Amino acid sequence: MIIEPRTRGFICLTSHPTGCEQNVIDQIEYVKLKGKIDGAKKVLVIGASTGFGLASRITSAFGSDAATIGVFFDKPATEGRPGSPGYYNTAAFEKHAHQAGLYAKSINGDAFSNEIKEQVVNLIKEDLGQIDLVIYSLASPVRKHPETGKRYKSVLKPIGEVFSNKTVDFHTGNVSEISINPAEGDDIANTVTVMGGEDWKMWMDALQAENLLSEGATTVAYSYIGPDVTKPVYRNGTIGAAKDDLEKTAVTITDDLKSIGGKAYVSVNKALVTQASSAIPVIPLYISLLFKVMKEKNIHEGCIEQIQRLYSQRLFGGDLDLDAKGRIRVDDWEMREDVQAEIAELWKSATTENLSEIGDLEGYSNEFFKLFGFKVAGVDYDADVNEVVKIPSEQ
Ligand code: NAD
Ligand code: NA
Repeated sequence: MIIEPRTRGFICLTSHPTGCEQNVIDQIEYVKLKGKIDGAKKVLVIGASTGFGLASRITSAFGSDAATIGVFFDKPATEGRPGSPGYYNTAAFEKHAHQAGLYAKSINGDAFSNEIKEQVVNLIKEDLGQIDLVIYSLASPVRKHPETGKRYKSVLKPIGEVFSNKTVDFHTGNVSEISINPAEGDDIANTVTVMGGEDWKMWMDALQAENLLSEGATTVAYSYIGPDVTKPVYRNGTIGAAKDDLEKTAVTITDDLKSIGGKAYVSVNKALVTQASSAIPVIPLYISLLFKVMKEKNIHEGCIEQIQRLYSQRLFGGDLDLDAKGRIRVDDWEMREDVQAEIAELWKSATTENLSEIGDLEGYSNEFFKLFGFKVAGVDYDADVNEVVKIPSEQ
């Protein structure tokens, strides 16, 4: 079939298998070009099909020749209906990993559930024995708690008071004023339950209970801080409360891993275009200004550049360069004073009329479509494509 983007608000309903494969190939090529990383050899990535998790899987496999197991929640294609991008990405990743002689298997299902944890435990027992590195990169709006069966929903709200600021509809370029009502009821607790550290710890407990972590095993989860303009809705908001919890959990897990000399870290990454960040008001305007400024300064990075740098310079580079709170910081370039000062200036003057000039609105929009395999350089979108692609290890 011929597949075209079909958007509804902040989501795209279709995705393109050839474009997704090209995205994966481009990331593989980038990692290979950067050279070998003396890193972990047996890697479990939870949230492995898109964004930072996919970049982590690619960097482990093609940077360190690692065997990888990927866990994610994606929709396979059916006749006439494209699958989700993460499904196509993983099919492409496995194909290229296998061609390179690398072990790669995938488990598609709810990572929050006991069943999926059990499946992963069994797969590790059968195939890899022990794991050296666990990347925890889930981003989900909901979590069904494995003990109670209760479904929790996370929300993106400020805490305490209404937050008003500018935002942009990146499809139209329209800049407007938006007000977001503060969290109420159980909003904060629910968001912490979904995006906090409880599930990360459950994964590590499940692995450790079965002796599936190697001596000195490491685990890393991803976090975000960001600038003052987004603070009320991000870091000081409900999602920030969840990130605080995630960051605290790193200390607990490190404690749990003492007997094997293991360590848990949080890496604070830079703001990138993802489905999730597109849905948070104010953030898209910030990102479009951020991209403009960072591109002008030649320090722009996408997921793969971020994770390749995290691995080669921090995790396996001999210097974690932790901040005062014990976190790895690869948002260091985003948070640079000169970068933030320029954005703060641009922020004040940003309007519908000037945003395409002072901000990288086009870059934002292109990145958004790229998430779904569209607008990828080198792909012929007029060509007939087979939408039903299978993940090799699932056949
Ligand atoms: P993403 O949406 O691209 O990836 C999320 C992954 O989680 C996907 O592989 C998806 O399949 C998987 N997933 C979601 N729910 C699942 C479930 N129930 N079971 C199994 N898999 C599930 O997200 P991302 O932007 O790469 O974010 C990953 C982490 O990085 C998050 O913790 C996020 O907060 C953090 N982070 C994001 C940004 C950003 O700007 N996007 C910046 C810094 C940190
Ligand atoms: Na991810």
